[in-house]
Amino acid sequence: MQVGMIGLGRMGANMVRRLLKGGHECVVFNRSPDKVQELTKEGAVGAFSLANLVSKLEKPRAVWLMVPAAAVDQTIADLVASLKPGDILIDGGNSYYGDDIRRAQELAPKRIHYVDVGTSGGVWGLERGYCLMVGGEASVVPHLDPSSVELTQEDMVSIRCLRVAISTGRIESCRPIIDAGGQGAGHLSARSSRVTSERILRSPSASDAGRAGVI
Ligand SMILES: NC(=O)c1ccc[n+]([C@@H]2O[C@H](COP(=O)([O-])OP(=O)(O)OC[C@H]3O[C@@H](n4cnc5c(N)ncnc54)[C@H](OP(=O)(O)O)[C@@H]3O)[C@@H](O)[C@H]2O)c1
Repeated sequence: MQVGMIGLGRMGANMVRRLLKGGHECVVFNRSPDKVQELTKEGAVGAFSLANLVSKLEKPRAVWLMVPAAAVDQTIADLVASLKPGDILIDGGNSYYGDDIRRAQELAPKRIHYVDVGTSGGVWGLERGYCLMVGGEASVVPHLDPSSVELTQEDMVSIRCLRVAISTGRIESCRPIIDAGGQGAGHLSARSSRVTSERILRSPSASDAGRAGVI
């Protein structure tokens, strides 16, 4: 699958590396060009602007944003003129779920699909895989499956899915990909998961939970 990645920091760069290793094509852009050059040497296709990235992707395009939450709205504003109906915009960072719902509504008249993904796994995700909590239209989310499967790893399922199941009550698959529901649900799940984990860790019985493999 072909994916456009914007934001090549600790998370975005390693996600690109994992996708490349799995045989996917990544077109990459970053505010600071040195990171683009670095990943180009590792097999990614480099882009020198947002419009240039879009022009190098096949339709319908899948463009993944991995930038700080505060930079998402401006990045979308700069990007949206280049996108076409049917394209999919994924925010894999840590946005507030209310912002996801608003963005999805703003993009809907342009028929650009918005998908929010809570991405868990940190810098260790390169080797271990990530847990993806996905919010978006049911007809659009499966389109991202090839890249989602590559980014995740089955042996994380017991811990990660359990965490999210505690907060959502739902496990949709045996992979650490949670189809959490409509737009906003991915980031809400990620947030709930973090809060639940923190509460368990702070509880007097945290060591018991740790021994039981819950955390
Ligand atoms: N780190 C984690 O463990 C972790 C885990 C889960 C989710 N997340 C989320 O994933 C997202 C990325 O995190 P990260 O750890 O990869 O961050 P990071 O290492 O600080 O990298 C941030 C990336 O975004 C770019 N960026 C920053 N401000 C920008 C702006 N105003 N406009 C355009 N690009 C901008 C940076 O470009 P430059 O290179 O030019 O600075 C850099 O490529 C965040 O939303 C974060 O909350 C992080």
